[in-house]
Amino acid sequence: MCGIVGYVGDDTAGQIVHGGLENLDYRGYDSAGMALLGDDGLTITKREGEVSNLSVPTVTGATCGIGHTRWSTHGPPTDTNAHPHTGMSDDIAVVHNGIIENYEELRATLVADGHEFTSETDTEVVPHLLERELDDGRDLRAALESAVAKLEGSYAIATVCADTDRIVATRHESPLVVGHDDDAAFLASDVTAFVEHTRDVTYLEDGDIVTLADGDATVYRDGEVVDRPIDTVEWDATAAEKGGYDHYMLKEIHEQPTALRQALSGRIDLDRGTADLDLTFPAGFLDSLDEIQFVACGTSFYAAEYAAQLIESFADVRATAELASEYTVDGGGDPRRTLTVAVTQSGETADTLGALRRANGGGIRTLAVTNTLGSTVTRDADDSLFIRAGPEIGVAATKTFASQVTTLALLSVFVAQERNALSAADARDVLTDLRGLPGAVQQVLDDAGDVREAATAFVDASAYFFVGRAHGYPVALEGALKLKEIAYDHAEGFAAGELKHGPLALVTEDTPILAVLTEGTRPEETLNNVAEAQTRGAPAIGIVDGSVETNSLDTAFSVPSLGPVTPLVANVYFQLFAYAIAKQQGRSIDKPRNLAKSVTVE
Ligand code: AGP
Repeated sequence: MCGIVGYVGDDTAGQIVHGGLENLDYRGYDSAGMALLGDDGLTITKREGEVSNLSVPTVTGATCGIGHTRWSTHGPPTDTNAHPHTGMSDDIAVVHNGIIENYEELRATLVADGHEFTSETDTEVVPHLLERELDDGRDLRAALESAVAKLEGSYAIATVCADTDRIVATRHESPLVVGHDDDAAFLASDVTAFVEHTRDVTYLEDGDIVTLADGDATVYRDGEVVDRPIDTVEWDATAAEKGGYDHYMLKEIHEQPTALRQALSGRIDLDRGTADLDLTFPAGFLDSLDEIQFVACGTSFYAAEYAAQLIESFADVRATAELASEYTVDGGGDPRRTLTVAVTQSGETADTLGALRRANGGGIRTLAVTNTLGSTVTRDADDSLFIRAGPEIGVAATKTFASQVTTLALLSVFVAQERNALSAADARDVLTDLRGLPGAVQQVLDDAGDVREAATAFVDASAYFFVGRAHGYPVALEGALKLKEIAYDHAEGFAAGELKHGPLALVTEDTPILAVLTEGTRPEETLNNVAEAQTRGAPAIGIVDGSVETNSLDTAFSVPSLGPVTPLVANVYFQLFAYAIAKQQGRSIDKPRNLAKSVTVE
């Protein structure tokens, strides 16, 4: 949620900050604003709505500026609640991501001291606190250090002040990254903001204070300068552009074959029948495990559910997937014989990080499975495994789901082999199926026109029900989530057998049933459940692979059989279906209402 941008350099800060905000508006698009420091002091401009509503003011000599795009938590999306926020005067401007939990108490103290507030946000306490610190004679860096010591909650904060030609920023449980160019320094909550200018980045750590001045960045810790490594981002700006597609989501759906190749690259040895992951666990640790717990949210949770099934079937170990926001370590087994795997595309989801910290606190070894180098999850977990999907801009996750399941399938084989639970021959079968994924997904993508045409008949449906068994069940849940997110229509995913235990009451001729009917998902039984819905008038669409006779379906789409990962290929039809429905309804597909790509509040 929310995006921060900062720039200090020789170029016109207004254009660069605005460009950065445009690159980041998938993080939140309720309102946007910027503060530019020019020859005549600070100019602040902010506007409700998307970044495109915000015009760049003409500010002479502006070579320093900060900007923000917001996903509202405290206070509705209005011009007044938009960031940057100021204190009693307009000489200081602050942008903030996260939530300041003790803001009511701080606000009351400040009001008692005579401070007047204009917005309903939690953020506004920060510039007022800074004013107080500056009045006490501190410079901006010391003032920020002292002000944030009073905050509880999570934050990334950047500030500029009228009489100091610099940006000062800090983070606590909210991402912040610095970009280094020859004569410029950048700041952002996500490298996407400035990757068109530089790929050399420093990921800040919690508690770091960074100063951007004279085109350079200096990181401080407890008042002392510290060295932080400079990493090079592997992808460039074109990876974060639409590339001729109408929406990022459609581009990312079509990028799946490439993303899957990247996820698999160098990780399969078919001769030996092994999954080669760059992971080292203590000797005997995987072998002695009683349980693997996955924690995740949303789409990542469905990937985790898929993975838990794969691990149980390959690795002969209990595996569970828990919603991160519900996860507790109480009542679990021996922490020394448990592995908790946090699955998160962004690596910044607060609920998932919270669960990971609870696991760490309970003495459990942890592993992060993520798309994002340098993200918080990679620091908090004992080990990290990257899904290598490349940047995903569409708020609705598509290619990252495919890359998550694929990477987790590799992990399942890896764990199984460490536990001697899977023979090389059986592993080779699974790995061969995984190798077939990019081509199989491409076949589905080649069918996109047929899905678009078929979807036309269902665009006015009153609800959509997705059903599946075994690996088809998480895919049904994911199919329904995509439709909800981007079409704003009622859609639910059910374990196919559950339909008759209640949901069948919702079924009418206006509620299409979309079913996964592929090998390994008990398609005969699911087909019976589909028939029960058809008897009540529901049209039925099935994703089939020839493993059962499916003439009774109203519409069928075929996928090649790839053993346990066939439902992952079926999911691509669901993605295309959701996209086609949302497109025909003219929805805001890349930036669905009320949502943001990364949810950094609990
Ligand atoms: C997916 O389409 C959603 N936008 C959402 O459910 C997402 O998967 C969830 O918020 C978790 O995000 P993460 O993978 O970055 O942790």
